[in-house]
Amino acid sequence: MSFSALKRKTFTNAIRSLKLSTKYTRQFHASRTRQSFNACVIGAAGGIGQPLSMLLKYNPLVNKLSLFDIAPFTPGVAADIGHINTSGGVPCTGYGGAENILENMGKALADAHIVIIPAGVPRQPGMARDDLFNMNATIVADVAKKCSEVCPDAFYLVISNPVNSTVPIFAEVLKKHNTYDKKKLFGVTTLDVCRSKTFIAENQGWNVENVDCTVIGGHAGITILPLLSQVEGANFSKEDIEALTKRISFGGDEVVQAKAGAGSATLSMAHAAAVFTNMVLRAADGEEGIVECSFVDSNLVKDLPFFASPVKLNKDGVEDILPLPTMSDFEKECLSKMTPQLKTEIQKGVDWVAEQKEE
Ligand SMILES: NC(=O)c1ccc[n+]([C@@H]2O[C@H](COP(=O)([O-])OP(=O)(O)OC[C@H]3O[C@@H](n4cnc5c(N)ncnc54)[C@H](O)[C@@H]3O)[C@@H](O)[C@H]2O)c1
Repeated sequence: MSFSALKRKTFTNAIRSLKLSTKYTRQFHASRTRQSFNACVIGAAGGIGQPLSMLLKYNPLVNKLSLFDIAPFTPGVAADIGHINTSGGVPCTGYGGAENILENMGKALADAHIVIIPAGVPRQPGMARDDLFNMNATIVADVAKKCSEVCPDAFYLVISNPVNSTVPIFAEVLKKHNTYDKKKLFGVTTLDVCRSKTFIAENQGWNVENVDCTVIGGHAGITILPLLSQVEGANFSKEDIEALTKRISFGGDEVVQAKAGAGSATLSMAHAAAVFTNMVLRAADGEEGIVECSFVDSNLVKDLPFFASPVKLNKDGVEDILPLPTMSDFEKECLSKMTPQLKTEIQKGVDWVAEQKEE
């Protein structure tokens, strides 16, 4: 299948992903028995975790929902979500509190097929994602260690920032415990794609449902690169391209500043994570031709062992990393400018794990 045909397929799939109605699901799965999956959210009581858990409750591929957060009211979040009358009666259990953290996390992770991780501290105005490294590295490493003990075959979707470093941290911890499967670890960069679609639609006067955009690189500032040259039918001026690229790369800052100290994107991120989770589960369920952008273990770009790009998914996770399309000179320049930063941030995560003392 050509790259553009795959892109069209991705678009169709993305549109479908937003329609989680049982009607659609019944139509799609009419011909065979659908699998069901146990989903676990770590950081489930937070700004992203709560709406994400609620959206997962609506996903017909989710059979069981387990929530964990150090916040003591996490069982209350689960009880609240559990009262939503979605068909199938997905049970929702919450484990929380600042005591027995690893033990409770282990209970939540038991039998998980997919683990989505928004645990950690969000940005405040003036902070870069990398400023969160010291706070979030330990949290993500603890989650990875517990996952390797309790659910070593699960898909792991890392949301906690800085994604450019937390995904390598997750990988290194799994490697230390001999449970690393590069096909199953994803840095969630879907929000960058969502923002691209929204801002492009606004710029072109299009219906956002008719927009698709590939976003490559990483998930921080200039490492976020939308490939506007690949947007079919778009007519961008040079000024448009520069302004849109900047707005997409730094879209998170708009939210951080507007929230004025109350955190970063939560609702749009919950939507993005629910879309991406749905795509991973649909591929795991046997649906073919699903392509999504994600930050994964990759050898697409020299010196960058992790890279966000369109990834073909199957029942085992990453089936294939698609080749990059021919980029414009502007995009090639952006890619070469981002490479040193992304390389440094990836290596920072790898080095951090190497420096940790074994317990
Ligand atoms: N990947 C992306 O595109 C993207 C977008 C937005 C935010 N983020 C990141 O997601 C993370 C969460 O953001 P938020 O706005 O939900 O923050 P938040 O503070 O509202 O929620 C984080 C939750 O994590 C919990 N937590 C902290 N340590 C924990 C641990 N050891 N185990 C389990 N839970 C733990 C907290 O109790 C809290 O409920 C941040 O790091 C943020 O930067 C990523």
